[in-house]
Amino acid sequence: MAKQIGILTAGGDSPGLNAAIRGVGKAAGGAFGMNVIGFRDGFRGLVENRTVFLDRAALSGILTLGGTILGTSRDKPHRMPMGGKEMDMTDVIVANYEKHNLDALVCLGGGGTQKNAYRLMQKGLNVITLPKTIDNDVARTDVTFGFDTALSIATQAIDRLHSTAHSHHRIIVVEVMGHNAGWLALGAGIAGGADVILIPEIPYDVDKVAEAILERSRSGKGFSIVAVSEGAIEKSDYEAIHAIEEQIRAAREKGDKALRKKLRKKLDALYAHQGDSTVRLARRLEELTRLESRVTILGHLQRGGTPTAADRLLATRLGTACADYVEKGVFGVMVAARGEYTEPVPLEEVAGHRKTVPIDHPWIVSARRIGTNMGD
Ligand code: F6P
Repeated sequence: MAKQIGILTAGGDSPGLNAAIRGVGKAAGGAFGMNVIGFRDGFRGLVENRTVFLDRAALSGILTLGGTILGTSRDKPHRMPMGGKEMDMTDVIVANYEKHNLDALVCLGGGGTQKNAYRLMQKGLNVITLPKTIDNDVARTDVTFGFDTALSIATQAIDRLHSTAHSHHRIIVVEVMGHNAGWLALGAGIAGGADVILIPEIPYDVDKVAEAILERSRSGKGFSIVAVSEGAIEKSDYEAIHAIEEQIRAAREKGDKALRKKLRKKLDALYAHQGDSTVRLARRLEELTRLESRVTILGHLQRGGTPTAADRLLATRLGTACADYVEKGVFGVMVAARGEYTEPVPLEEVAGHRKTVPIDHPWIVSARRIGTNMGD
């Protein structure tokens, strides 16, 4: 009997998803004679039983497309908004998995998806995942697909900002995505020749950034490009957040609910303050340097459009390897990129473990060696 496999894409979309769906689907259907069905809009489609048959025709012509032909959502199986309230829909997912006689469920996603897939594995489903995200923050894989495309889009943007910053003798602060990991800002900042790179892993001191920019001015460079990760945080805020977190921990140990509530409010206010941190940074730099400043937020541009050749290749390698693991009955793993090869990594080693930039990472060493200010 032909094996039945289901596939879904969850979390934020990412270039290379369609290449990966095609890789899994063509290898599973072609090389191994399996039947492949797709679930629409992530785990929600699995709950609502919205499916599409992924035969050769459906998988044709999608290699170069951005987004995901299946649609996606950030809905979690155990906390899914249903008619105005959040419900645990795990049992419905298990029932639909059985209804379709699935031999495996392939989940394509980032950190959140890995956690959700791990939970489904614990419920007894044969789950296998692929690492996708422009943030490159999934643990235990060399790289995630989507990252290379976003990296080249952000780099091109920084390239283009140079000429206008130079012409107007301005500071341009360019905000790069990446959630709480600095891979994208660091990579694009180095590749695009940013003068300052600020990442979440190195809390920054705005006075030191201003001083670096003034130093450039004194040496005759009247403009500066600051690449800032959306998750970058000012040192004083970082310290304040950590101090409050410590106090919350102590209050929890003492069982002081009222104090915990008060401290939580303080913490929420500090997090809310992070919302417009890039704009505030540009304003502060303008005040401190007396150089005109502008902000460019790259946002979802970084996730859109056709994947690069490197992402198409990576997604195809991981997708086809995934079909191979399903055929061999290897489940409960993420198909990781390891050099030129792939490796099945147990989901418990991936779920809940984010890969941030180590502060002694070679990219940071290189950036510092060419004189890039890292905000510290
Ligand atoms: O995880 C990918 C990512 O693009 C992050 O870089 C960013 O913080 C987030 O998704 C944005 O999410 P949304 O598309 O839901 O606004």
